[in-house]
Amino acid sequence: MTSRILIIDDEKLIRESLTHLLTGEGYRVDAAADGAEARELFGRRSYDLALIDLRLPDCSGIELLKTFMANAEDAPLCIMMTAYGSVDSAVEAMKEGAYDYLNKPFKSKEILLIVRLALEAGQLKREVKQIVGDQVKRYNIDNIIAVDPLMAKVFSVVRKVAGNRDVSVLVQGESGTGKELIAKAIHYLSDRADRPFVSINCASIPGNLLESELFGYERGAFTDAKARKQGLLEKAQGGSVFLDEIGDMDPSLQAKLLRVLEESRFRRLGSVSDISVDVRFISATNQALEKLIETGRFREDLYYRLKVINITIPPLRERKQDIEVLVKYFIDHFNSKLNKQVRGMSPEALRFLQQYAWPGNVRELKNCIERIMILEDTEVIGPEHLPLEVISSTREKGRFGVFLPREYDIRQGVDFNDLVRSFSSYLIEEAMKISGGNKARTARLLNMDRGTLRYQIRKLGIEE
Ligand SMILES: Nc1ncnc2c1ncn2[C@@H]1O[C@H](COP(=O)(O)OP(=O)(O)OP(=O)(O)O)[C@@H](O)[C@H]1O
Ligand SMILES: [Mg+2]
Repeated sequence: MTSRILIIDDEKLIRESLTHLLTGEGYRVDAAADGAEARELFGRRSYDLALIDLRLPDCSGIELLKTFMANAEDAPLCIMMTAYGSVDSAVEAMKEGAYDYLNKPFKSKEILLIVRLALEAGQLKREVKQIVGDQVKRYNIDNIIAVDPLMAKVFSVVRKVAGNRDVSVLVQGESGTGKELIAKAIHYLSDRADRPFVSINCASIPGNLLESELFGYERGAFTDAKARKQGLLEKAQGGSVFLDEIGDMDPSLQAKLLRVLEESRFRRLGSVSDISVDVRFISATNQALEKLIETGRFREDLYYRLKVINITIPPLRERKQDIEVLVKYFIDHFNSKLNKQVRGMSPEALRFLQQYAWPGNVRELKNCIERIMILEDTEVIGPEHLPLEVISSTREKGRFGVFLPREYDIRQGVDFNDLVRSFSSYLIEEAMKISGGNKARTARLLNMDRGTLRYQIRKLGIEE
């Protein structure tokens, strides 16, 4: 279906040249000279895209944008056209929901590219929206294990995004949720798969070094530049660049990166000529970029460029269904890596894992299983093998898994009375501590009468 575009500009020359250019590409185009005319056209038919001049004779471009956006279902993608240097209002427009902005004067090639990308991204967004609303199906992607419906949504967005080779993606999620895995999946499922996936961690490399890593340099660009060096952007040509921990990038470098995103061109340090680059940017962060924007540490305009599509990976504690399959997967993985024969995990142990909060998410779970399989010689992983933090943060109501300290092993024989006695003592002593030695309160805490409590104290030899 041919896309329909609305141009709103008070300059006749611009209207005519844009109409000419876009109809030449097969788009259907209408043009309006001011806000009133634009509203009238918009009321009559729906548009896929609108090119809006920021300054109009009867209203501001932003007001018009808001009117369009208020029609959520029918809103076109909006690209603002600005006079050079009015970046602030452009950013304001992006906040109001504009897709992008173009600085005047513009080149035909630039317009056609932005229009094409916008229409593709718009199509993608519509499909993504539909998926998220749809009943969730189970999707799987190699190496990424998940059954929880929350992840099925993530997967379907990943597939959609992979199908579009240019759209920038921002992957957000707590540490260890699998952001890098998702970034790779997007690359390897896309038609850039046979080109490089180049990854750079913005947090671990100091600012100026990061710049030369990204852009490369000419011989003599700075004191240590003994020979020309290719930057990662060049190495990634045709492929994807993964900017990990993007929130930690230096503001000055953010400005340079923005230029690459806007123009698909960059310069090696010390060079006088531009190099064109065709890469997809996938960024990741576990920080709230909106907060960094507020405190001035992250550029707002860059943020909007990076997150044309946003993928948020939920923390492991919000997708408990995944824990069991991940445990199985990691046991298999480490069986072959460590040459072990662990058969599985007991249901009690699994219950503990399902109740733990996993601040380090999947990575913490993976490390936990690995540590157990290295240290313990057991066929089945039980609660006694689990790390203390997993066990002790767990509060299970009703039937709960009591676990034995490591030195006890039922298979070797244990003393029933002895164990019951020490467990009873433990309960009474704890309750006494809590109630400050008050017997009536202790009895209440343990849901027993005072006679029974006195009897148990004597029998167990507990000091009062
Ligand atoms: N769904 C999953 N299936 C299998 N392995 C997973 C899954 N999610 C994460 N992992 C594994 O967990 C570890 C952490 O994943 P990854 O490095 O992608 O996380 P991250 O979100 O980038 O973490 P950080 O914020 O700390 O950089 C990796 O070893 C990865 O293979
Ligand atoms: Mg990572």
